Amino acid sequence: MTTVTTGTRTSTPSAGTPHTRVEGRDKVTGAARYAADIPFTELAHGWLVLSTIARGRIRAIDTVPVLAMPGVLTVLDHRNAPRVDTDYTTLLGTRPDPTCAVFQHDRVPHVGWPVALVVAETPEQAREAAEALVVHYEQQPHDVEFTGEHPDAHPVDGHMPAVTDKGDLEARLAASAAVVDVEYTTPEEHHNPMEPHAATARWDGGRLEVVDSNQGATWVVGELANLFSLDPASVRVRSEHVGGGFGSKGVRAHQVAAVMAATVLQRPVRVVLTRRQMFSLAGYRSPTAQRIRLGADADGRLRALEHRSVSLTSTVHEFVEPSAGVARVMYDADAHHTANRVVRRDVPTPTWMRAPGEAPGSFALEAALDELAEKCGIDPIELRLRNEPDKGPVSGLPFAGRNLRACFVEGARRFGWADRDPRPGRRRDGRWLLGTGTAAASFPAGAAPSTAAVTAEADGTFTVRIAAADIGTGARTALTLVAADALNVTPDRVRVRIGDSDFGPAMIAGGSMGTRSWAWAVTAAAGELRERLALGAGIPPEGITVRSDTTAAIGALAQKERHSFGAQFAEVAVDVSTGEVRVRRMLGVFAAGRIINPLTARGQFVGGMIWGISMALHEEAVRDRASGGHVGADLAGYHVATHADVPLIEADWVEDPDPDDPVGIKGIGEIGLVGAAAAIANAVWHATGVRHRSLPIRPSRVLADVPREPHASDGGAPHA
Ligand code: MOS
Repeated sequence: MTTVTTGTRTSTPSAGTPHTRVEGRDKVTGAARYAADIPFTELAHGWLVLSTIARGRIRAIDTVPVLAMPGVLTVLDHRNAPRVDTDYTTLLGTRPDPTCAVFQHDRVPHVGWPVALVVAETPEQAREAAEALVVHYEQQPHDVEFTGEHPDAHPVDGHMPAVTDKGDLEARLAASAAVVDVEYTTPEEHHNPMEPHAATARWDGGRLEVVDSNQGATWVVGELANLFSLDPASVRVRSEHVGGGFGSKGVRAHQVAAVMAATVLQRPVRVVLTRRQMFSLAGYRSPTAQRIRLGADADGRLRALEHRSVSLTSTVHEFVEPSAGVARVMYDADAHHTANRVVRRDVPTPTWMRAPGEAPGSFALEAALDELAEKCGIDPIELRLRNEPDKGPVSGLPFAGRNLRACFVEGARRFGWADRDPRPGRRRDGRWLLGTGTAAASFPAGAAPSTAAVTAEADGTFTVRIAAADIGTGARTALTLVAADALNVTPDRVRVRIGDSDFGPAMIAGGSMGTRSWAWAVTAAAGELRERLALGAGIPPEGITVRSDTTAAIGALAQKERHSFGAQFAEVAVDVSTGEVRVRRMLGVFAAGRIINPLTARGQFVGGMIWGISMALHEEAVRDRASGGHVGADLAGYHVATHADVPLIEADWVEDPDPDDPVGIKGIGEIGLVGAAAAIANAVWHATGVRHRSLPIRPSRVLADVPREPHASDGGAPHA
């Protein structure tokens, strides 16, 4: 027996000081192994075959010649695949998307629908055979076109009510001194994490083990157990390192296909998605068409607000991109109407993608606020501050902190906003027209029940076990700092193990809730362990382990409107003769709870803001009406912001600890994106005098809508 003391605190807390990633060395040296890197003996490789038609039925699949190809072990399709059960509710409270229940029938609802899995000894053999597999279809007419006008758009609740409605909108609009009535569109966008989806499934002594790249082992266990009618205790999912997720890494066709093949062959089977397959099978952000109507007094006080959004979903599953939700938190008005509707088409099912709802919704709403500021002749920041609500506009709940004003004040000071000439098209730098823009940001701040175990080891170190996922956010490092503080030891004595469902149920890395939810559980277990050690408990060779479960504590949280907030600023340069838009600098100031690791937190904020550049200027998945499939479903055809597009970006924060969280955390994963595209679009208007209401603001759109008046013709001298 050894004794370990945690003692009284002698140094400053670890949280709040920058720390490099605890697994950083492993990642840069290649020692960190991702899902598809981990070797298994007897490993077989599955390759998915996806439909080439957008609607119809499978008539026949010529498996015989393919089964004779070198190395081929089996072909699974709707005729021979194991049956799965889709009659359940997922951990997230939704119905499962039947897209992941592969090979259950002969119907094809979109291009890229999984129709078969070819399994072979090597990935090359599997791919060769999969590409040789001939599938005969009975093709039916399809429709992939999305418009906001569609008569069959219908309200869908998703994770919030579809419709909220107070006051007489038309009357308030009619009585308003200034009215904005505009439509905005955003395109289909794809997550494109660096690491493609990959899973290896195997049966091990009656247990199903899946080594996977996902955002939550607990989540994937729950789905696989339901689909295959297994006891969740007999399923283990491991996911040690994850190269990005952004909402796309839940349960998907490849894990299910791998489990089926491992069951049939009684061998480990790995299935990875190609980049191109990810465009069909990893989910995506629906395009949106949004209509905003604002009515205000001459002093800019909102009297009427309407935000209606239509998004797209598949014919097999209703997923709503709830873009109108952001208006329910940001601004109040006597008449306040919001609605999220969807239309169903012959396309893949969209899913959560970083700041689902808030990202496109804030583009429309915050651009409309800028249009209202112009109409009222009021500074855009002043307009927002005049409309700061003192309680949740729709919920009526008190805010658990709303430090938006502080973000704008600090942001405006640092960005140099006070010097801005509000008139558009006044500044020039050679061939470039210059402009600046701003927008507000918000994102829900929540916590979900999780369990954790903390062990005091006999050698004086501590081991934390929690089924968290670090999808690149730095969660593992943040939890190391949180545990060190709760134990009152230095972080080098703490080892955090994550990504294993055997550690017990825990929240997913999603909804900007991961680190907060896990930190809560880790703090609870570590705190109790520290108390036990303070009593002088001796440590046996196996250590002392304390477990926590935050279900009761989180269930007892008071009802409040819980959000993070932020102020986004952008400066752009526009060349109206080539249509090129360049972001020159960005600043985001956030009120997003206590910041645990400033280094990785800054990475999260800046990463979100870069997504904003990408969303504003580059990203757009284009569907070909005739085939129903994508044009250029790869990183050559689908443009994301690259280094050359990313200018000086600064992100900072104001003090904003959450008083109801044991660590003070709110959550930072998504808010960096919210409002970023609007700030850029507003800056483009300020540069050119032209409102671009459809994203992305690509050169062809700038060229199609060149300002009629030559700008800065009064000498072109930049004023600032
Ligand atoms: Mo995120 S869209 O909550 O993974």
